[in-house]
Amino acid sequence: MTNREIVVSGIRPTGDVHLGNYFGAIANFIKMQHEYNCYFFIADYHALTTHPDAKELPIFVRDALSIYLACGLDPDQCTLYIQSHLPQIPELYLLFNMLAYKGELEKIPTFKEKVRSQEALGKSINAGLLTYPVLMCVDIIIHRAQKVPVGKDQESHLEITRTFANRFNYMTGSSFFPEPYGFSYGNTLLRVPSLDNSGKMSKSEGNPSASIFLKDEDKTIRQKIMRATSDSGPTVPNQTKPDAIANLFDLLRLVSSPDTVAHFDEQYNQCTIRYGDLKKQLAEDMVRCVAPLRERYQAIAADTNYLRRVVQEGGEKARISANATLQGAKELIGLSYF
Ligand code: ADP
Ligand code: TRP
Repeated sequence: MTNREIVVSGIRPTGDVHLGNYFGAIANFIKMQHEYNCYFFIADYHALTTHPDAKELPIFVRDALSIYLACGLDPDQCTLYIQSHLPQIPELYLLFNMLAYKGELEKIPTFKEKVRSQEALGKSINAGLLTYPVLMCVDIIIHRAQKVPVGKDQESHLEITRTFANRFNYMTGSSFFPEPYGFSYGNTLLRVPSLDNSGKMSKSEGNPSASIFLKDEDKTIRQKIMRATSDSGPTVPNQTKPDAIANLFDLLRLVSSPDTVAHFDEQYNQCTIRYGDLKKQLAEDMVRCVAPLRERYQAIAADTNYLRRVVQEGGEKARISANATLQGAKELIGLSYF
């Protein structure tokens, strides 16, 4: 275990976990737990940057934890914890806020997007939103991780994480923090599209009928897929796929067999495809993928004692690692007197 590379990732408890979270992040976690020294957590502080009313947090935290376990995360194979159970995180975050410049934070694309969406909802922008990437950087380097399994939307956060880690190393004349990189077994980081061709599937933003949630019943999944945006055509053989159709094929590639994908690809290229048939197949393959996860989730979410034990034990393990990093960083900065 000790020689294994270190992995960290988390999801925000801001709503129901969807197929984007599953394929972009969790599916990689499941495999990585057997090959790396993995820390997976629930980013409850992060949720407060856009959802400052914490009333719903207990439900979403319990849900996210139950989904992690239902998908196959094994507390004996990885360390599972809740971000706010590690007091070392806010302490290192404070120190890293001194290394982060206001101008560079304001330029990060995800900050600009979040400002737009918060303002569209008439919500104010808190300072935590601006320093979100500092907190995310600390989540990662608190265990001195090298690999971070995330979706494509997190690329800019990883880039700034490397900048902060390198800046710390430069300022302290050390090589204390490794440079963490995004990771996916598929090599490129994934972006699972929404069903209405309006962007990516998402928990907290956008149209809930455009995302497939792991809690969705079979009937709901079928309805959502049958209503997914499609297009007319094709009218010419081997035509480039319009975005809405390319999205349906992207989804098909995630849940269907290569033969099924090849079959519909061929029909598309020969202009004989019927999108209704493609959607029916896609819906059935999604139901096959989601139903067992949903059923396991329901059983696990009802077992409060088990959930509590998992995060208590995971928190203990994570605090040991976080503490070693924090003490090392403080010494390098010069914060060690007497
Ligand atoms: P959301 O954006 O739905 O609120 P989070 O911000 O909590 O979800 O993201 C948790 C993980 O899921 C991150 O690694 C993120 O990159 C990944 N993720 C979220 N949406 C998608 C998507 N549509 N496609 C691929 N990965 C995604
Ligand atoms: N920012 C990530 C998201 O919105 C969630 C997250 C917070 C995270 N801290 C992290 C992901 C550390 C990976 C590692 O999806």
